[in-house]
Amino acid sequence: MRVLVTGGAGFIGHNLVKTLLSNQHQVNILDITSSEDSRVKTLVQMGASYYQGDIRDSNSITTAGQDCTHIVHLAAQTSVPASVENPTLNDEINIIGTRNIIDFINSHDIKKIVSASSAAVYGNCDQIPLSEESAGDCLSPYAESKFQNEADLFSLVNDSTEVHVLRFFNVYGPGQGTDSNYAAVIPSFVEKIISGQSPTIFGDGSQSRDFVEVSDVVGLILQILADENDVPNDVYNVATQTETSILELLQLVSKSIKEIDPSIPIPDVNYQGKRSGDIDISLANIAKVKSAFNWQPKHSIEAGIASLVAYELGS
Ligand SMILES: NC(=O)c1ccc[n+]([C@@H]2O[C@H](COP(=O)([O-])OP(=O)(O)OC[C@H]3O[C@@H](n4cnc5c(N)ncnc54)[C@H](O)[C@@H]3O)[C@@H](O)[C@H]2O)c1
Repeated sequence: MRVLVTGGAGFIGHNLVKTLLSNQHQVNILDITSSEDSRVKTLVQMGASYYQGDIRDSNSITTAGQDCTHIVHLAAQTSVPASVENPTLNDEINIIGTRNIIDFINSHDIKKIVSASSAAVYGNCDQIPLSEESAGDCLSPYAESKFQNEADLFSLVNDSTEVHVLRFFNVYGPGQGTDSNYAAVIPSFVEKIISGQSPTIFGDGSQSRDFVEVSDVVGLILQILADENDVPNDVYNVATQTETSILELLQLVSKSIKEIDPSIPIPDVNYQGKRSGDIDISLANIAKVKSAFNWQPKHSIEAGIASLVAYELGS
């Protein structure tokens, strides 16, 4: 397999590229990030071919996609607030960019594409746990663009290419910045506590999310790329079907920090008003992905947080 990974310099992307390379696959990365970026340099040293470019530019895709047999499409404008501020830019990157990928597929011999969608397409749907068919309450241009991507991939990609769309819930793990738009709460809790500042919780902390560890996500993508069973084109939730409240999450982070360094004091929580638009519960039904790919997330939130805190503390 030679895999084109768009967004391969990003959080999920760089974790995926490392695993693809260590499994002896060849990888071409297309990302707008500078080739001088330290993460990019590491991936190149490990054997990836790096193409700095923009998915809005068809020529960049053609150059980066040369000789590729499979595509994992992760590049996107990923910020909900930025999509509200500048919906035109959001749509250019997410909708036009993805249509450019589709045009590339339709004029090349691509066996499979695995493309990133988001739990954002469920909006405030209250049919918990969230099943794939209950999507569509898109509350932001970001969510709308992800939902449009799904429709475009299923209707525009030629029949000889398999299409698998993954709706990621809150992916967390090593290499995620505090500015990340999904599980940023975890690195931000760690950063605040180890620097002696109060971690911030918006609302009372009872709001819950479905957190999934990045290596479980990467494992699923690898499994889908390698799968020979001709699984029909479809869309899947990628999560653990486990509800974790923000307060529980803070307790887990605090416990893991204490276990590594008991001398670090745990500051009191800085409670702020609930943010408008924050949903109370986000919990996926993952029956479909489990049965289609015999996939099961391996990391409990307890184990995942413990290893992430150990990574952040360098121990
Ligand atoms: N991390 C999560 O919890 C989560 C949840 C739901 C959906 N997703 C989706 O998964 C994918 C990967 O997310 P991530 O967390 O790794 O995000 P990320 O922001 O870390 O990575 C996105 C990458 O895309 C690149 N990029 C942005 N615009 C580009 C452009 N025009 N051309 C080329 N490259 C461009 C960025 O430089 C970055 O490296 C995204 O599509 C995101 O919407 C992620």
